[in-house]
Amino acid sequence: MSTEIRHLRAGVVGTGFIGAVHVEALRRLGVEVVGVVGSSPERAEAKALAPVLSSYEALLSDERVDVVHLTTPNHLHYPQVKQALEAGKHIVCEKPLAMTSAESAELVELAQRSGLVHCTNFNIRFYPQVQQARALVANGAVGTVWNVHGGYLQDWLLLPTDWNWRLEPEKGGTLRAVADIGSHWLDLVQFVVGMRVESLLADLATAIPVRQRPAREIETFAAADDVEREDAPMSTEDLAHILLRFEDGSRGSLVVSQVSAGRKNSLRFEVDGAEGAVAWDSERHEELWLGHRGRPNELLLRDPALFAPEARSRTGLPGGHAEGFAETFKELYRAVYTAVAAGKPPAQPDYPTFWDGHWENVLGDAVALSDRERRWVEVTT
Ligand SMILES: NC(=O)c1ccc[n+]([C@@H]2O[C@H](COP(=O)([O-])OP(=O)(O)OC[C@H]3O[C@@H](n4cnc5c(N)ncnc54)[C@H](O)[C@@H]3O)[C@@H](O)[C@H]2O)c1
Repeated sequence: MSTEIRHLRAGVVGTGFIGAVHVEALRRLGVEVVGVVGSSPERAEAKALAPVLSSYEALLSDERVDVVHLTTPNHLHYPQVKQALEAGKHIVCEKPLAMTSAESAELVELAQRSGLVHCTNFNIRFYPQVQQARALVANGAVGTVWNVHGGYLQDWLLLPTDWNWRLEPEKGGTLRAVADIGSHWLDLVQFVVGMRVESLLADLATAIPVRQRPAREIETFAAADDVEREDAPMSTEDLAHILLRFEDGSRGSLVVSQVSAGRKNSLRFEVDGAEGAVAWDSERHEELWLGHRGRPNELLLRDPALFAPEARSRTGLPGGHAEGFAETFKELYRAVYTAVAAGKPPAQPDYPTFWDGHWENVLGDAVALSDRERRWVEVTT
């Protein structure tokens, strides 16, 4: 562990599902979490994650805090990032970086001007098998890539009674499933194949047009039985089918759904090339499938001894000793805090930056336009 990283300190904003994951990952790196801020001090206190600070302003004016982690609902990211940059703090912001690409473009501009370290929390890149897949593709193991396909499926919004702030466009955004989980898939496959999406064709659908909203607020993935409810018409998509063209002409496709029974958190991708294929599934993330034509297929279990150096450096335990979701945050923050310890972003960041967050907003714009006008759309910043 780097001594410098251990001397850095963080403040975490938002104490819900993912705020708790940030706090735990930071502690495992030896980073002190100076304090957390919730929607109210009482609610944050109830979570017992770390000392509770009285307000976001108090966190920003606390000189002990080097890095601010934003894990609040989507609509708060843009104003909170701006405030953090003004206060001179390095920032890790959850996805989506902002509600619109105009906002995310402004944040990229401000962050670059500040000289501070900025990260959009696309943690899935840091599964060791994802790093291995990227290394294999880069080293030519599958030959020329011509096809990338898969999807991101969940079932936690399957029932009309399932509710979360993500269903409210003013808090979650005007795109929902695509911005919430499709953005992870798109970021990931572009990372794995090392190419950007150049154009796309999207078809969005709202499977449940009216939901029953609970009268009081509930947290992500929490059950809400026996509460008073009211009808809430839905304007955002439960599912999406998207065709892709990458900048080198290779093709792709994905299905995004938050209403697929039995799929808890299933992100899958498969890369087909002229000499082989590679596939990964987040629900079986210790495995990497290697597809061959002229010999039996292979299943590579996570094992540092069998990995490319890039992947080996992102895994801590020996093979057969399971790692998981929480470790992806730890490894992402190891990369980010190494940059913070150096005092500025590296020339070639090895973690996703605000630029990557902005790019996902730009792709989201293209998805919305394509669906609205029922046509292919070029992706342009
Ligand atoms: N990278 C990932 O894998 C991942 C996973 C889940 C969520 N997320 C992202 O993290 C963010 C939070 O999602 P979640 O699922 O944890 O939601 P959540 O509802 O569980 O938690 C949000 C928290 O923010 C708090 N909050 C609301 N307003 C606040 C304010 N003004 N100041 C401080 N805190 C406030 C709420 O009280 C709650 O504790 C979203 O942007 C989401 O897209 C990312």
